[in-house]
Amino acid sequence: MVCDLSSGSKTTVSVIKADVGSVAGHHVVHPEQMVLARSCMEKAKKNGTIIDYHVFSCGDDLELLMTHRHGENNRTIHELAWNTFRDVTDKVSKPLKLYAAGQDLLSDTFSGNVKGMGPGVAEMEIDERKSEPIVVFAADKTEPGAFNLPLFKIFADPHNTAGLIIDPAMHGGFTYRVMDVLENKVVDLACPSEMYDLIALIGTTGRYIIEEVFRTSDGLLASVSSTTRLNLIAGRYVGKDDPVMIVRTQHGLPATGEVLVAFGFPHLVAGFMRGSHYGPLMPVALKNAKCTLFDGPPRVVALGYNICEGRLVGVHGSDPADLFDDPAFDHARTIANTVTDYMRRHGEFMPARLGPEELEYTTLPQVLEKLRPRFKKL
Ligand code: F6R
Ligand code: MG
Ligand code: MG
Repeated sequence: MVCDLSSGSKTTVSVIKADVGSVAGHHVVHPEQMVLARSCMEKAKKNGTIIDYHVFSCGDDLELLMTHRHGENNRTIHELAWNTFRDVTDKVSKPLKLYAAGQDLLSDTFSGNVKGMGPGVAEMEIDERKSEPIVVFAADKTEPGAFNLPLFKIFADPHNTAGLIIDPAMHGGFTYRVMDVLENKVVDLACPSEMYDLIALIGTTGRYIIEEVFRTSDGLLASVSSTTRLNLIAGRYVGKDDPVMIVRTQHGLPATGEVLVAFGFPHLVAGFMRGSHYGPLMPVALKNAKCTLFDGPPRVVALGYNICEGRLVGVHGSDPADLFDDPAFDHARTIANTVTDYMRRHGEFMPARLGPEELEYTTLPQVLEKLRPRFKKL
């Protein structure tokens, strides 16, 4: 691949992820998958395609964090990610008979952009500020709408983000770009003035998903999230679209701590077992990013970095600050365990199980179809 630095000095941060098979069910990525993904990334770094990278996993999802100069939706970068996932599938997942090998690669051939082909994507092209702290979030066993509530709190709720009141640079509020994933449309809503309209939409987490957030006063991009809904693309159940998100922090944006505190309340999200249940989103350290009990509870990790001329500055080379690896989040995890127990005691009864529209893409309709002829008209 050829290095093209022509798009200027802007830095692009791309997180592209896919479930291409895992160990012991939909549980955790295999170490050999990580090793191969790292070697693909290292090759791309050496030939100048990317500036830096970090390969990590959240449950059964292989996550590629890359920095480069090619901008968003770039063919070279998307092809690099696609080929990495293909390689991992063909050279590790299939030979080891890992579970659901290649699950999220919905096509055999690359079409120029991984969006719509299975993998999840969050990318932002930015002019690096004097100092550029970011937090990368990845969740497993849930869907993109899981980030709606924390994003609302981070950028619109003054009880979460003191800076909205105290910092003049944030006092003008933030604008949310919300995507309607059913109709493939977006709408921009400014907070606080249009807060009630915003909530009217994003409270419906399966349909209206926050794609981007900007600072209203100057349009500074503050966060981007993945919005794919695989089931809508494939027309059948292919798992939940475990989301990723990049949030810029500090100096006129919410502080890292204001961003993280939004995850201190383990809110209920759709996903969990068979993508068909509500469970609390548990903030965990990277080492605990693997779902067990009832294939859950759903988990979220937070990786802290500073971007410096495109380099990923973490705590040890490109190793991130593992931000939920902190006893301060123990309480949230305890609540999540209690809520898991409470929800599971409902068994297969709503509201522990998702409503019928959400189950449309699972195998439940096949079961119901079988019963249809047995209904007698009254
Ligand atoms: C949820 C998920 C798992 C599976 C479950 C059944 O997103 O991936 O909960 O749905 O383990 O998997 P299969 O049908 O592959 O046996
Ligand atoms: Mg899986
Ligand atoms: Mg997953």
